[in-house]
Amino acid sequence: MKAIVVTDGAAGAAGMTLLERPEPTAAINDVIVEVHASGYVPTEAGWPSTGRDRSGHDRSPAILGHELAGVVTALGYGTTGLTVGQRVFGISDWHRDGTLAEYVAVESRNLAPLPGDVDFTVGASLPISGLTAWQGLVTHGRLRSGQTVLAHGAAGAVGTMVTQLAREAGAHVIGTGRAADREKALDYGAHEFIDLDNEALEDVGEVDLVFDVIGGDIQARSARLIRAGGTLVTITGPAETRPRDGLAIDFVVESVPAQLVEIVQRVRDGRLRTNIGEVASLDDAVTALNPTTRRTGKTVISVRP
Ligand SMILES: NC(=O)c1ccc[n+]([C@@H]2O[C@H](COP(=O)([O-])OP(=O)(O)OC[C@H]3O[C@@H](n4cnc5c(N)ncnc54)[C@H](OP(=O)(O)O)[C@@H]3O)[C@@H](O)[C@H]2O)c1
Repeated sequence: MKAIVVTDGAAGAAGMTLLERPEPTAAINDVIVEVHASGYVPTEAGWPSTGRDRSGHDRSPAILGHELAGVVTALGYGTTGLTVGQRVFGISDWHRDGTLAEYVAVESRNLAPLPGDVDFTVGASLPISGLTAWQGLVTHGRLRSGQTVLAHGAAGAVGTMVTQLAREAGAHVIGTGRAADREKALDYGAHEFIDLDNEALEDVGEVDLVFDVIGGDIQARSARLIRAGGTLVTITGPAETRPRDGLAIDFVVESVPAQLVEIVQRVRDGRLRTNIGEVASLDDAVTALNPTTRRTGKTVISVRP
């Protein structure tokens, strides 16, 4: 089968190659999915799990990609809950070969049914961004109606989901980003927008929840804005700072099928819009996935157009 592998995680597009690889086999509780579309997070080639398995053994050259939408073609021993021919979507294991391939082996517990009226490109754009936003706001941030959320990178793949879900939950949403992101962030539902390059972050006043996708100095300055009892949620790695009188939480998104069902239902009934930037074929994926290219939304690779 065709697959995008990474040979050098630090080399950007030059470290990625389209290769022929053996088709995966289904282990206990796995399904094999014929991948129709795969989402991609631009930092993925450099993640430790991309080069190592769970025992720490080198697993390169690894197949990239962890978001998928596709059709189940085989069940492993003991697999329940899904059937051959079923449309599914979700996140595959960080430490195993990924979804930028014609087939992938995934534990069935990481997948949810993809409704027939949601196309594969949309399905593949939702799992990481949608679940990250959901888990950051609901599971870790314990957001309540009436609170104020500072949503960094509000025009990005995660940020547009954060903005919409926070607003649906009854929060006041202050988005941030570059000057060019203002209209998009407001269009996705932010009540206000701060251009981090030209405006003072401190002008937003106190907030209850910071959703950090940037880290560093922006994270530190944001933590100082959190009112007593509030929360800093970051997805950029271990929190480097914490609010004076509040919680700092960092997390890596998990594939939770019940939450995927909630997210895709919102897309179907119009409460949630996905944010797809470029869509490219597997043959053109290396160019499309170049981590140095500025993105305006989620890159999705259409594996089986
Ligand atoms: N822990 C987890 O589970 C998890 C899950 C998903 C994503 N992530 C991480 O979260 C980050 C965001 O992911 P994403 O998919 O949402 O990326 P994205 O689509 O590129 O969105 C990030 C947005 O933030 C903006 N931004 C970044 N730094 C900025 C700065 N200093 N000033 C102003 N705007 C800035 C970006 O603008 P520019 O492009 O102009 O910089 C972009 O609009 C990535 O680092 C990703 O690896 C972590």
